[in-house]
Amino acid sequence: MAVDEQTFRHVMGRFATGVTVLTTGRDGVFHGMTVNAFASTSLRPPLVVVSIDHVALSHDAIAATGLFALSFLSERQRDLSDAFADPESDANRSLDGVEYDLGELGLPLLQGCVAWLECRVGESHVSGDHTLFVADVVSATAGSEDRPLVFYGSDYRELR
Ligand SMILES: Cc1cc2nc3c(=O)[nH]c(=O)nc-3n(C[C@H](O)[C@H](O)[C@H](O)COP(=O)(O)O)c2cc1C
Repeated sequence: MAVDEQTFRHVMGRFATGVTVLTTGRDGVFHGMTVNAFASTSLRPPLVVVSIDHVALSHDAIAATGLFALSFLSERQRDLSDAFADPESDANRSLDGVEYDLGELGLPLLQGCVAWLECRVGESHVSGDHTLFVADVVSATAGSEDRPLVFYGSDYRELR
């Protein structure tokens, strides 16, 4: 029997994750979005995968540039997670009002995060209504020692 969407969402909500903001774009025009469908998939070479909705603004930008960066949020950064999950927000659309530095790929790395990755896409696979972008990790940097933001049961949690 097929699993209905509500059950699937409810059950997947019982899998705790960290929260990242993915940034992408080119020529100084950037977009960002909150992403928790993220995993490391290989150590040698270092590879990661993100799963991005076909309708997300960032989807076509990643497909066009083959580049994205990930900023791992701390528990102090819930507001950033909310802003980047809102397609109408200035943060999501253009990173207006967000403090960031540019990494070696020229993509924004949000300030105050617990870690950052810069990634170059090697393969992409359509997976239902999302695309899996499998990417080489070009740089990996640890940041603040703050506790990470955790997402569980459709809500933010704190590690204790
Ligand atoms: C905690 C959290 C995790 C999310 N993870 C993903 C994800 O992994 N992939 C995805 O496509 N959308 C994810 N979203 C939804 C996007 O952040 C949201 O749809 C965003 O508005 C997409 O931006 P855009 O359509 O303006 O580009 C997540 C939202 C939240 C709150």
